[in-house]
Order: sequence, then structure tokens, then C-alpha cells
Amino acid sequence: MGKVYDALQRAEEQRARRIGESGSAAAGAQLVAAEQAGTARKRRFWARLRPRRPEPHREDAGTLNKRRIAILQPQSFVTEQFRSLRARLETLAPRSSLRTICVTSASPGEGKTTAAVNLALVMSMSVGQRILLVDCDLRMPRIHESLGLRVDAGLAEVLRGDAQLDEAIVGAEGSALSVLPVRQLPENPAELLGSVRMRELVEKLSTDYDRVIFDAPPILGLPDAKVVSDLCAGVLFVIRAHATPQEEVAAALEVIGRERLLGMVLNEADANPSRYGYDG
Ligand SMILES: Nc1ncnc2c1ncn2[C@@H]1O[C@H](COP(=O)(O)OP(=O)(O)O)[C@@H](O)[C@H]1O
Ligand SMILES: [Mg+2]
Repeated sequence: MGKVYDALQRAEEQRARRIGESGSAAAGAQLVAAEQAGTARKRRFWARLRPRRPEPHREDAGTLNKRRIAILQPQSFVTEQFRSLRARLETLAPRSSLRTICVTSASPGEGKTTAAVNLALVMSMSVGQRILLVDCDLRMPRIHESLGLRVDAGLAEVLRGDAQLDEAIVGAEGSALSVLPVRQLPENPAELLGSVRMRELVEKLSTDYDRVIFDAPPILGLPDAKVVSDLCAGVLFVIRAHATPQEEVAAALEVIGRERLLGMVLNEADANPSRYGYDG
């Protein structure tokens, strides 16, 4: 945990230095911009809670989503970072005790889905590993778009008993990864995720697969991610460098429970994405 705070501290210091270096007038402009961005972000946050039907079949080979970096650029720096994360997780705990990992963050847009997709992809590259990625953001699912999946049934249908598990699980093209996506957006996501059926599903998946990665919604302001994180063996917490406010991180870690934290992903630690070959 000390490392988490050291990294946060460094991120805060870097941000403060950048503001300081840009001179007082420019710094003032940056602060105003940050406040305005904060208001816009809150509006987007509440807007995204309105249930919307996903459009699962919109992506085709010509519009590959750039979140799947580990497939598109297997030798890139970013993919290497996810391989390092995989190695760290492997050494953290024996396989049997770390079968279920929840990926979450304080707020929307911080890189949870990007981290979950790429971690699951690099894990599935290990020979003989059965890896499942579960989209459990029942309000704004993104896994199906990110992996260009054709989705006939998803998590909500499985939990309601409207579809069999093997009807809903699909393979991600170009990889050995299995995916349980979302199709229908239910009216009662928190109740579905907190149901006995969800608990039983997580237990079953953790015996069927070596690792199950859950791409969760943000933890602040909604019960969904807390429900999912409590069902998992551990939590990976994503922070968007220079964007996630430190107090939001502290509040989110309080909700998760610090003892449940496996580690954190400092997303976009380098503000120049092109250095990562990532232009998404
Ligand atoms: N390191 C990064 N560099 C550039 N864009 C990124 C990075 N991480 C995420 N993104 C983009 O930011 C947006 C939000 O990311 P996403 O993973 O969907 O966040 P979340 O799941 O936390 O809402 C997506 O468009 C994604 O492609
Ligand atoms: Mg997401």
C-alpha cells in the first residue's frame, strides 16, 4: 500500500510542477479549465447512469477498437507493461487463491476497461491458461465494442436464467481469451450483481477458469462495483495519472477496503500517448 501512496504522491507532485512551470497566468487558466472540466465530467457521470441499450454489432474489422492494444501491438511498450502487471500478480499470490480479480476505479473514463481487456489478453497468452473476461458494467458495457464481439446473450440474461452460460461466453478473435459480455441492460443492475445467482456464477467461473477478470463500473456513487469487488479475491484499482483527484482515490479505497487491494494501475502515466504507440 505504501507504493500506492508513493505513486499518488509522485503524480500529484508532477501535476503541481506542471502547473508551476507554466507560469502564474497560464496556471490560472489551467485551474479554471480544470474546474470547468470537473463540472462537465460530473454531468457526463450522471448522464452515463441512464440505462442505454448497447450497440453490439456496430464494430467491424475496419473500426477495430484501440483498447485491445495487446492484440494490435503485441510488442509495444504498453503490452509489456501489462505483461509486467501479469507477472506481479502471479508472484503476489498462488494461482488458486487469486482466481477472481475485479478491475475498478473511482470514476468513469479512467481506463478500467482498457486495463481489464489488456490484462486479460496478456494472461490468455500464457500457454495452457484458461482466462475469462467478464463485463460487469451493466450500465455502460464496453467489452463487446473493445473486442469487436458478436453478442447474442450476456451477463444479465445468464443471471436471470434467460440464457445458458455457454450460450453467452464467446472467444475473442485473435486470442485464446474467453469473454462473458453484456447485451441487455437491466433496470436493476445492483440487485442482479448482488443476487445469489451472481455469487453462484462467480463460484462456478472460478472453478472453470484459471483466472477471471471482472471489468467493473466505477466504485464511487454506485453500489455495483462494491458488490462485484466483494465477490472477488482481490481488486486492481485504476488511476488516471494527472486526472483522478487524490481525494477521490482515498474515498474509493475506503469503499473497497484497503486490505482487498492487489495493486493499482497508473494509467497514462506518460501524458504523451504517441510514445506508447497509442493513438486511441
Ligand atoms: N492510456 C491511455 N491513453 C489514451 N487513451 C486511453 C488510455 N486509457 C484509456 N484511454 C481511452 O479513454 C477512454 C476511456 O477508457 P476506458 O478504458 O473505457 O475507461 P473506463 O472503463 O474507466 O470508463 C477510451 O476511449 C479509451 O480508449
Ligand atoms: Mg469501462
